[in-house]
Amino acid sequence: METDRELPDISSLKIPRHVAIIMDGNGRWAKMRHKPRTYGHAKGAEVLEETLENCDHLGIRYLTVYAFSTENWARPLEEVKVIMNLFRKYLISSVEKCMKNNVRCIVIGERSRLSPDIAEAVCHLEEATKDNTGITFIIAINYGSRDEIVRGVKRLAGDVAANLLSPDDVNEGVIQNYLDTADIPDPDLLIRTSGEERLSNFLLWQLAYAEFYFTDVPWPDFSMEELIKAIRVYTSRDRRFGKVK
Ligand code: FPP
Repeated sequence: METDRELPDISSLKIPRHVAIIMDGNGRWAKMRHKPRTYGHAKGAEVLEETLENCDHLGIRYLTVYAFSTENWARPLEEVKVIMNLFRKYLISSVEKCMKNNVRCIVIGERSRLSPDIAEAVCHLEEATKDNTGITFIIAINYGSRDEIVRGVKRLAGDVAANLLSPDDVNEGVIQNYLDTADIPDPDLLIRTSGEERLSNFLLWQLAYAEFYFTDVPWPDFSMEELIKAIRVYTSRDRRFGKVK
């Protein structure tokens, strides 16, 4: 991406190929400022844009963010509406920015519950950016990991019933191909902001070997410095993938 900013010294850092983020704390950040929760989401969308740029500057190849979970529909209707409007605006304005910055964009999650114009914006963004060769930006909208697994297993069972696949041929690689994240390498580092330390139904299969980093910083305050802090911790971790070194 184009930038005039000076890159911090990252020579001692091991840069993860894929970073996944649970962007938590928008509501609490806004409340602390005596503003409505939706003000926090708007700020969160701005910070997301900066974070994508920051990841790209650092050489991260994949960024996946949890924007809206299958459980988030249970929030007050007004808040859901504001978040959906943010998605509308963001998905549409992202096409030009992604093209300019060579970003490939993919949306994961169940689409039939999205309003038709948002589903259409998702398809357009994916189609327009599919040949871009820079960072891959994956946005989880109406995403739940268990829902993703159920949908994948249904398709797999359908293919077995149609004799396209034998049960004996099912292995980890085959299952991976039935997930929304088929063809995307697993995240190396998961970051969750705002003090919560749980997965909340995010990428349960894909995070099997990821390093976890939790910070008290709320998402709207997440900066390049915070990102580098997370990567510094990641660099210090000894990833053995179940083996002895
Ligand atoms: C979590 O904060 C945030 C969300 C559920 C929404 C995430 C949305 C954005 C960051 C902005 C829009 C994203 C895109 C892709 C345009 P919270 O509301 O759970 O915060 P709280 O825990 O303080 O209540």
